[in-house]
Amino acid sequence: MNSRTATATVVEISRGLEISRHDISTVSVTKPLPVSMYETRRWLYWLALPVMWLLILWVMSKKGIRKFLKLPEAKTNSLWFDGLCPELRKVKEGAASWKALDQIYNWRFNQGYGLGDKLGDFWFGMINAQSVRNRFKLVKEEVRRAIIACNGHQEVRILSLACGSAQAIIELIAEFKSKGSHVSAMLLDQDQTALDYAQVLAQRYGVSDRIQVVNATVFRVSGVAKTFKPQIIEMLGLLDYLPYPTAVKLISKIQEVLPPKGFFLTCNIMHNSEQHFLKWVINWPMIYRTPQDMAEIVSNGGFNNVRLVSEPLKLHVLAIVQKEDTHVL
Ligand SMILES: C[S@@+](CC[C@H](N)C(=O)[O-])C[C@H]1O[C@@H](n2cnc3c(N)ncnc32)[C@H](O)[C@@H]1O
Repeated sequence: MNSRTATATVVEISRGLEISRHDISTVSVTKPLPVSMYETRRWLYWLALPVMWLLILWVMSKKGIRKFLKLPEAKTNSLWFDGLCPELRKVKEGAASWKALDQIYNWRFNQGYGLGDKLGDFWFGMINAQSVRNRFKLVKEEVRRAIIACNGHQEVRILSLACGSAQAIIELIAEFKSKGSHVSAMLLDQDQTALDYAQVLAQRYGVSDRIQVVNATVFRVSGVAKTFKPQIIEMLGLLDYLPYPTAVKLISKIQEVLPPKGFFLTCNIMHNSEQHFLKWVINWPMIYRTPQDMAEIVSNGGFNNVRLVSEPLKLHVLAIVQKEDTHVL
């Protein structure tokens, strides 16, 4: 079935972040949380699993009954999730889009005492939300490494596919700009609202001169990369929605256009105990994979020596590859 199979899959667990104090100050425009630490609060949410299952069963039956009665979907899935907290409602309504991630990346904890605020603190603290913020930090760490590895070039160019708000990339560009290094990015997304918001963020961080945007599908990667000539291509938060053959086909296209020694970074969500809650209560279904499945997709897309790194909660695994230099024997 699959032509190349990753044998023993080794997944590194990222334990700490090397971000310096100086870098923290440059990212303070949107980030309210200590950016130098991963989040690892598991116990409370393991204990809350029975409550989550009660909510899942409630929402499942509500949806089933409405479907049976041919009624449209209810506006609220559960009073205890999207009913009382407007930001949680935005997550549900923007599920799978940059709008939901923007809420999760930038939720400010302990800012209010109302029931909605406390529900926000609880659900924005759930393991999936923690791990998506961990992924954000891990992505910055690994893209930063790739930029440093490319620093022999006068300008480092990043192509961000399915970029969403591109907050991580914009923060990195600001960080390198403050150090006098030229890093620029082409931000590609099929959703114009994501690109508009990315431009607003870029302006806030003072890096509008370093970004270009393109409203297109990721399948146009070959044409875009031929003109922009990126040394780094990242595609985060997209494999979670692509079936295996589509994912492999897309990664093959990326592999073809990436120059030798260029970097490709991607990631996927792993199976976890909250995935049914995401599907039923948050209306956010995804394709959950194992690290082996992900390594296989990337290697069947034509890349060798795939490095897998997970954030500490082990929900989001990043695949990082450097394309081989075919001219070196
Ligand atoms: C979950 S968000 C991820 C955003 C960002 N990469 C991040 O990790 O924060 C997925 C993004 O992919 C975009 N997207 C989905 N399918 C796409 C496609 N075929 N071509 C381009 N963009 C796509 C959506 O518009 C959305 O902004």
